[in-house]
Amino acid sequence: MQRRAALTLALLAATPFAAQAAEPVKVGFLVKQAEEPWFQDEWKFAEQAAKEKGFTLVKIGVPNGEKTLAAIDNLAAQKAVGFVICAPDVKLGVAINRAAKRNNLKVMSVDDQLVDGAGKPIADIPHMGISGYEIGKQVGAGLLAEIKARGWKLDEVGVLRVAYDQLPTGHDRTMGAADALKAAGIPAANVVDAPQAKTDTESAFNAANIAFTKNAKFKKWVAFGLNDEAALGAVRAAEGRGIKHDAMLAIGIGGSQTALNEFTKPTPTAFFGTVLISPKRHGYETAIAVYEWATKGKQPPPVTLTSGTLMTRQNQAELRKQMGL
Ligand code: GLA
Repeated sequence: MQRRAALTLALLAATPFAAQAAEPVKVGFLVKQAEEPWFQDEWKFAEQAAKEKGFTLVKIGVPNGEKTLAAIDNLAAQKAVGFVICAPDVKLGVAINRAAKRNNLKVMSVDDQLVDGAGKPIADIPHMGISGYEIGKQVGAGLLAEIKARGWKLDEVGVLRVAYDQLPTGHDRTMGAADALKAAGIPAANVVDAPQAKTDTESAFNAANIAFTKNAKFKKWVAFGLNDEAALGAVRAAEGRGIKHDAMLAIGIGGSQTALNEFTKPTPTAFFGTVLISPKRHGYETAIAVYEWATKGKQPPPVTLTSGTLMTRQNQAELRKQMGL
């Protein structure tokens, strides 16, 4: 199998044009939560890249470690040249890197940077992700502006941090938001952590419910998490307890369909806004980077961090247009 792969590669190297004409180059795009709108958008823009450059995109959902490693083998069997991955657990980094190398596949991570056994980013896997802490601070600033607009007193506001700290970018994002609120004068004791088991709305809803029950003394709340689903889970849990948008504010991170659904409801919910990030850059640019790395030897930059912009009901249409979404 390995000999055959080596032979195929040698042939490809010798006759790149003939080989390309015969069979389109394949690039994989593996995501941890295929059902999440953010990842669907990434896939959509990666498809756009594939059409433009003339390669075939192989999209695979990888909800756990076993499926991740099976997907890499599957890509190798299809003679793909490489893949982009947002892994279900960043600690799979070493295993993913090994599987990629064994199969002669280029690998680049997106969104969640892969780490080694000691929790350190794996330097030879190029990465594109958001600048988590900075974007978190933008969440905090957005919440503060609205707290002020509503005339809420800083010390009476409970701060719900829906936490997924095992994922470094999740930790950075939510700590950025909490730090911005504390720096502005919200007492550190008002920050309540609600650890979620997964990064979806249901897990956030369950985590937030427990936190609200334990902290009934707060009558006004702000909430955030690593993505829109986390913020939305907190909003739905609050609604279930009769805490509506006049007493609750949440800002997510993302700006995909999860957020848009909230913004298009006739009556505003407590989902006040989101920091819009770019699935276009993450999907389109990473797919092209892997393609060009494998076919032209053009090494992607080691780390690319993207920025975001606060989006609310008011500016959503205009902002998404500006970002080409
Ligand atoms: C993580 C989150 C996703 C999304 C991306 C964006 O993977 O789990 O919901 O926010 O980051 O980079």
